[in-house]
Amino acid sequence: MRTQVGIVGAGPAGLLLSHLLHLRGIDSVVLEIRSRKEIEGTIRAGVLEQGTVDLLIESGVGGRLQREGSVHHGIELRFGGRGHRIPLSELTGGRAITLYPQHEVIKDLVGARLEANGPIFFEVADVGLVDLTSSTPKIRFRKDGELKELACDFIAGCDGGQGVCRASIPEGVLTPFERVHPLGWLGILVQAPRSSEELIYALHDRGFALVSTRSPEIQRLYLQCDPNEDIDNWPDGRIWEELHARLATDEGWTLHEGAILDKVVVAMHSFVAEPMRYKRLFLAGDAAHIVPPTGAKGLNLAVADVRVLAGALADFYASGRTGPLDEYSEICLRRVWKAQRFSWWMTSMLHRFHEEDRFRYQMQIAELDYVTSSRAAATSLAENYVGLPIG
Ligand code: FAD
Ligand code: DHB
Repeated sequence: MRTQVGIVGAGPAGLLLSHLLHLRGIDSVVLEIRSRKEIEGTIRAGVLEQGTVDLLIESGVGGRLQREGSVHHGIELRFGGRGHRIPLSELTGGRAITLYPQHEVIKDLVGARLEANGPIFFEVADVGLVDLTSSTPKIRFRKDGELKELACDFIAGCDGGQGVCRASIPEGVLTPFERVHPLGWLGILVQAPRSSEELIYALHDRGFALVSTRSPEIQRLYLQCDPNEDIDNWPDGRIWEELHARLATDEGWTLHEGAILDKVVVAMHSFVAEPMRYKRLFLAGDAAHIVPPTGAKGLNLAVADVRVLAGALADFYASGRTGPLDEYSEICLRRVWKAQRFSWWMTSMLHRFHEEDRFRYQMQIAELDYVTSSRAAATSLAENYVGLPIG
């Protein structure tokens, strides 16, 4: 088999890249180890930046997002038992975020690729990259037990934080930057009406809590926990008790409880590999960088990477120019590091670091007080949260 761009991973990065290349007349093949049902059912991100939404709409896969997504013009920061609104749109010339689940983005992209007869191989196994130093790198994999080889002009490593692409790059080529945080999030999906029209990020002496949403009937809530927490230590009653305590206000607000449909613990991690390229292999999304979830940036960075990569590959196929491909890593990394900084800052401001002294906690409260009372500080948060300009 042969294609122009072999794409490993059918997450947001791989699928959107395949779609954007198709719109420019470039062939690709997507290989995914999981089943279609699994990738379309895994609960992950929910916050789409304005630029992500614009790109999905412009590229023709934003119809359902426009109908079913919920546009938010502000978020609440809650501390000291009081809520403070950050008016995102007012501070950023009308930009906003849209709540639309990642697995719905995946469904829309899979649908668009299959409708255009774009090849996606689900449930492949034993994926390996070979001949990476040649002008025709290859991907070997098994499909239904049969060994196959896909010869490519380029390979896009879009296989997430645990994939094979980054690991296929020879030792010493990449510089890793890493920070493991002593923090985890326990995320739940709840069948209940919305408790708030906008997201609530709360800092409490007992730890961080976040109120998000998926639809008028399904809500998404998170609370800070130990990164190695055993989910069995969190029966439903304990989760609700903790959420009520951390989100308590003296302003007459009610947290609506409901049946818990899904529970997950996510450990927090910051990671960047530089450069995001080796020869004809380009890394995109979580394969190249991981951010802690507090800034809601992971999915949006994956989208920003493949926007740049699709443009650079289109330039190459149209004119033979390699300049944009050579600049890919540098262009992406500028955004990646700014998103790392923002995610780290939000994480540091909003979590309880119990092992540290009370001074740090007071600094966090002072920071929240400043961000919610200074227009300049609130604007800085808002422009990062809705997404920095492209480029
Ligand atoms: P992935 O989505 O991880 O996709 C990689 C794909 O590659 C997977 O389907 C995987 O099965 C496949 N794969 C792996 N190995 C192989 C292999 N060897 N061969 C073939 N295929 C392979 N981000 C936000 O922007 N906003 C949020 O609100 C947000 N909230 C989050 C909440 C949680 C609980 C979590 C866990 C993450 C959250 N994120 C958020 C991060 C976001 O989900 C990720 O950054 C995003 O999924 C990255 O997309 P990707 O395509 O790079 O990687
Ligand atoms: C969600 C996830 C995030 O990481 C975040 O910062 C806000 C919302 C969510 O899943 O809805």
